[in-house]
Amino acid sequence: MKKNSNPSIAIIVALDQQNAIGRKGDLLCHLPGDMKHFRQVTSGHTIIMGRKTFESLPKGALPNRTNIVITSDVAENYPGCIVVRSVKEALTHCDDEEKAFIIGGGKLYRSTLHLADQLYLTRIHHTFEDTDTSFPDIDFSEWKLTEEEAHKADEMHLYDYTFLTYMKI
Ligand SMILES: NC(=O)c1ccc[n+]([C@@H]2O[C@H](COP(=O)([O-])OP(=O)(O)OC[C@H]3O[C@@H](n4cnc5c(N)ncnc54)[C@H](OP(=O)(O)O)[C@@H]3O)[C@@H](O)[C@H]2O)c1
Repeated sequence: MKKNSNPSIAIIVALDQQNAIGRKGDLLCHLPGDMKHFRQVTSGHTIIMGRKTFESLPKGALPNRTNIVITSDVAENYPGCIVVRSVKEALTHCDDEEKAFIIGGGKLYRSTLHLADQLYLTRIHHTFEDTDTSFPDIDFSEWKLTEEEAHKADEMHLYDYTFLTYMKI
């Protein structure tokens, strides 16, 4: 299959009102609706993640997706994944005309936001305490909102949350 180094790049992230995304190596909270959305949006595609995000996955590589991990570590520690050293190397593994998803964490988001042409944000309508990882500031004048879907808190979800999709202008 032909490969290139210039695929469409989408970022997917769940962030709170202050752009926090994680604490103590884990997500901010458990939102089953967001997990389902993440699975639906990314299934069948390539997902690219930092080493610490891989370490946070309870069952390792995610099924039905090509998993790429960026790390300086040895490949043996990442079963089911393509292991690369840099964002540039990761993109060489993406197929022509494919959409590749950057799935975190903070370090990887910071080094790829300028490359992305689509954002899938889940805004959690809450400000969490003791967070230690955040998403970089987004200049929304560069982005056009294309989809918005609000969800109310319920017995399965402690907080209101909204799916927001943006295209780069
Ligand atoms: N809310 C969300 O949607 C979401 C999504 C994903 C993750 N998270 C959270 O984010 C936190 C983890 O984020 P993090 O910033 O600590 O770590 P991370 O970005 O997941 O991983 C950092 C590591 O990945 C490698 N790496 C990342 N970017 C690189 C680059 N541009 N070039 C070369 N290597 C790179 C390095 O690995 P080596 O040190 O091995 O060289 C680096 O130390 C966790 O709390 C996780 O739960 C939240």
